[in-house]
Amino acid sequence: MQNFYYNIPTQIYFGKGQIENLGKNLKKLSDRALLVYGGGSIKKSGLYDKVTEQLEKAGIVWQELSGVEPNPRIESVRKGVEICREHGLGAVLAVGGGSAIDCAKVVAGGACYDGDSWDLVMDRTKITKALPVVSVLTLAATGSEMDEYAVISDLGKNIKKGTGNEFTKPVFSIMDPEYTFSVPEKQTAAGTADIMSHTFENYFTEEKGAYLQARFCEGILKTCIQYAPVAMKEPENYEARANLMWSASMAINGLCSYGENTAWSVHPMEHELSAFYDITHGVGLAILTPYWMEYVLNETTLWKFVEYGKNVWGIFDGTDMEIAREAILKTREFFNSIGLPSTLREVGIDKTHLDEMAQKAAEGGTQKGFMPLDKEDVKKILEMAL
Ligand code: NZQ
Ligand code: ZN
Repeated sequence: MQNFYYNIPTQIYFGKGQIENLGKNLKKLSDRALLVYGGGSIKKSGLYDKVTEQLEKAGIVWQELSGVEPNPRIESVRKGVEICREHGLGAVLAVGGGSAIDCAKVVAGGACYDGDSWDLVMDRTKITKALPVVSVLTLAATGSEMDEYAVISDLGKNIKKGTGNEFTKPVFSIMDPEYTFSVPEKQTAAGTADIMSHTFENYFTEEKGAYLQARFCEGILKTCIQYAPVAMKEPENYEARANLMWSASMAINGLCSYGENTAWSVHPMEHELSAFYDITHGVGLAILTPYWMEYVLNETTLWKFVEYGKNVWGIFDGTDMEIAREAILKTREFFNSIGLPSTLREVGIDKTHLDEMAQKAAEGGTQKGFMPLDKEDVKKILEMAL
């Protein structure tokens, strides 16, 4: 196990009724806040009323940035920064999924930065200060409620890029699984694929000595496999929603990656799909992951796939290579079983931009992945996925 610095400062209020902690704790950070949310799901579900009641009760004055897109755009970030400046706001409160929270994080950085917020997306070290960020989570997926990352797109330039650092970690997050009861089937499935992908990115590492972290990962994967089908069949099953929600945070908050040299591979590829085609992040991951696994499986990486097959899927029969292949097959079958596609064509992606996407994914991180992948490797994986 390698050295690491543990730092997960976000406070979590988890469970039913925890919204009661919102107003009084936000007030300690500022009495002037920007409320950031998406296209209206929080109004339909009634959460908007609960949140604003909390703000009113605590005497917090607020402005709103609504309509944040899934795959949030830099234009929304700029709008939020402007509102913060105009009204002298001192905190940013996101209510929603990863998109609202990611947007809020860069708004928080942008409000303390003199130049254009896009600079902060292109270079995370330029975030040297940020307004405090708080979140109320409504979708189990990205883990943004407990990590530093924010992924912002400039679709005009076909760029989708992750940023964030210590300053963008939420100060606290409210995680009430009941707020995810209204998440539609498709988003529940896509969110699960995202949680699993974060876990895979941390799990498939060359580090053999981080035994505990590998078992954490397997626990998260098994939790997703157990509960995603339940949540889809019974959207108001609290136990299923709660387990998925906590898995999402644990998959990416550092616990699974501390002590290892993790280097992500499938995310850099998927971000290019979203940048060019604006598809749902988790859907892109579900398509690419089994092809990536097939591509990187070889004599050197075999041990990790065998561990995966045995500990996650309970496959013990056959040669090591057979166990590994069976585990990959099970992965694809699982994604299909929760309604996720397995080819790019199904989401409207053809050969047109493969070359460009492969080039950018290689520049964006795959060259340093579990198995380093250059442009040609990525292109082959994308072709396999067509
Ligand atoms: O916009 P509204 O109306 O709220 O509807 C949203 C949106 O349409 C809806 N939704 C959310 N909660 C709901 C709900 N509908 C009904 N009931 C609820 N309780 O779901 C749709 C998707 O929401 P979004 O926030 O976009 O989803 P998600 O949480 O999956 O976030 C995706 C974004 O996060 C980025 C992705 O790339 C993508 O841009 N990521 C962020 C990461 C991070 N911060 O660490 C890491 C991830 O790898 C990922 O890249
Ligand atoms: Zn992700």
